[in-house]
Amino acid sequence: MSTSSVRVYSPTAKALHWTVVALIVVQFATAFLMPDIGPRTPPSTVIDLHFSFGVVILAVMAIRFVHGLLYPVPLEASAARPWERLLAMTTHRLIYLILLVSPVLGWASASAHRLAVSLFGIVELPAIAAPRAHWALVAGDIHMLAMWALLVLVGLHVAAALYHHFMRNEDTLKRMLPSSL
Ligand code: HEM
Ligand code: HEM
Repeated sequence: MSTSSVRVYSPTAKALHWTVVALIVVQFATAFLMPDIGPRTPPSTVIDLHFSFGVVILAVMAIRFVHGLLYPVPLEASAARPWERLLAMTTHRLIYLILLVSPVLGWASASAHRLAVSLFGIVELPAIAAPRAHWALVAGDIHMLAMWALLVLVGLHVAAALYHHFMRNEDTLKRMLPSSL
């Protein structure tokens, strides 16, 4: 354990965690409402919202990643078996991996489909792939698959948090809730 490790999540880490949870809910809603993106899909508000919120999630996850490196928190669950700790750690790392890489793949697909990416129409962001670039169209498929994999991982993650709280009576869930609760 590094000397700078603390045993509890800081208010910032908690705020970032729950901000991303809320943003992911909005993001899947926009993904469901969005039309299938094809070569001739016209821009629309729901597509713009999907791109904008997606970029916000990417930015918040990048901040969270750096914050986590600066203030690492070891897994608590003292009664947990080694395989449970390994599963928890792997799940957390995969969630980070998907949320840091997959939005960029979606962005590449947007560019390949000639759809502009901006932050709520206020800040224009550059295209990161050429129109119809093959790699970026494949990236779009990976983006969708990765986001469905994310849902499975989050399902596992939430089930584990609730299991530790209600079945094992451990403080796992409280570690991520505001200290006043
Ligand atoms: C964490 C953030 C994101 C999540 C959870 C997410 C989720 C999803 C999901 C579930 C789909 C599939 C929708 C369907 O099956 O109809 C999708 C498609 C798509 N998303 Fe995202 N997305 C995110 C970020 C982004 C970003 C940042 C962009 C672009 C700037 C983007 C662009 C796209 C595009 C272009 C598609 C269609 C892909 C294709 O057909 O090739 N997404 N997204
Ligand atoms: C989109 C949904 C979610 C994502 C992406 C997510 C992601 C993460 C990640 C990456 C961590 C590792 C610690 C960190 O870096 O902050 C974490 C920790 C945690 N999450 Fe979530 N989470 C989600 C939803 C939830 C929900 C709904 C709950 C509660 C039911 C929850 C409870 C926890 C708890 C208790 C921890 C601390 C685990 C520990 O260190 O002992 N999460 N979450």
